[in-house]
Amino acid sequence: MNYKIALIRGDGIGPEVVNEAVKVMERVGEKFGHSFTYTDVLLGGCATDAVGKSYPDGTAQACKACDAVLLGAVGGPKWGADKPAEQRPETALLAIRSDLGLYANLRPAALRPAMADACPLRRETAQAGIDLMMVRELTGGIYFGKRDRYTTEDRGVEATDLMAYSEKEIERIGRRAFELARLRRRKVTSVDKANVLETSRLWRSVMHRLAQEYADVEYEDMLVDNCAMQIVRNPGQFDVLVTENMFGDILSDEASMVTGSIGLLPSASISDGAPGLYEPIHGSAPDIAGQDKANPIATILSVAMMFRYSFQRPEEAAAIETAVDAVLAEGWRTADIAEPGVTPIGTREMGRRICKKI
Ligand code: IPM
Ligand code: MG
Repeated sequence: MNYKIALIRGDGIGPEVVNEAVKVMERVGEKFGHSFTYTDVLLGGCATDAVGKSYPDGTAQACKACDAVLLGAVGGPKWGADKPAEQRPETALLAIRSDLGLYANLRPAALRPAMADACPLRRETAQAGIDLMMVRELTGGIYFGKRDRYTTEDRGVEATDLMAYSEKEIERIGRRAFELARLRRRKVTSVDKANVLETSRLWRSVMHRLAQEYADVEYEDMLVDNCAMQIVRNPGQFDVLVTENMFGDILSDEASMVTGSIGLLPSASISDGAPGLYEPIHGSAPDIAGQDKANPIATILSVAMMFRYSFQRPEEAAAIETAVDAVLAEGWRTADIAEPGVTPIGTREMGRRICKKI
């Protein structure tokens, strides 16, 4: 097969980690008989620098012409919250998610065997294993609701962000979660704040309807505050977690930390047809950009997710994941995951070692 890949290298460490991921892709292609055509797409702070806006015209079109999108990272202090919206990288990220219809964000948080000691939780907790899949709704809720700032007579300046969800939006993300659970350990935990929010009460009623339809999948509701606590108390209890956009943003950072390093975790953002977007969940780490220090593993594992979810090629995905585990098992570490006393290797060396194992 020839696959067309849009590369959004982005800002900070983005270009470096994407480079290694591309090498891995090429290696997989060699081994399994695929080839790739790459299209560079400009988005983020680098786009603001080049053309004055973070989401240049034609960005979505260029991505839609490809089979999948690989994104490094966008953002940095240079394009901060004080800049106009069209220059901020976050604006571009939300726009591309919305324009490609990427309503389902899959963020697996698994403790890789070789990394068990990196888990900051109790040893017994780590030994019990952590392997959860966060399914975050990505194109609705408070991220995309109406915002406003205005002055009132009695209260002075006021701001609002509206959280809205339709039944349809909830149902399609819910179905994704149940379908994924069927391929895993058949358990769905739906996270909401139904004791306070009306959107959560609607969320819960839709999920209950789906739970009846997917009777072979174990189902539970959990309030988001309790869930935040359970993730550090006993993450092994979770299989698939499904939740709305902002809760998922917060909980996925928390879940990533219990696996040891945010530098290891990939993500997939998918729709019902248009190309999926694959990216590490970490940010652009401007403090170490260009120094060959960044961990490329999260981006490399994002390529594995691309093979699994966009190309339906589980063998290629597994080959990448096995190679990553093998390199980690040999003790090779980038600086972010190096145990005390271990001399870290660089971004390129990590990429090279993973390629060699494929
Ligand atoms: C993420 C990030 C983004 C989000 C930011 C950069 C807009 O935190 O992908 O989790 O909040 O969705
Ligand atoms: Mg986030």
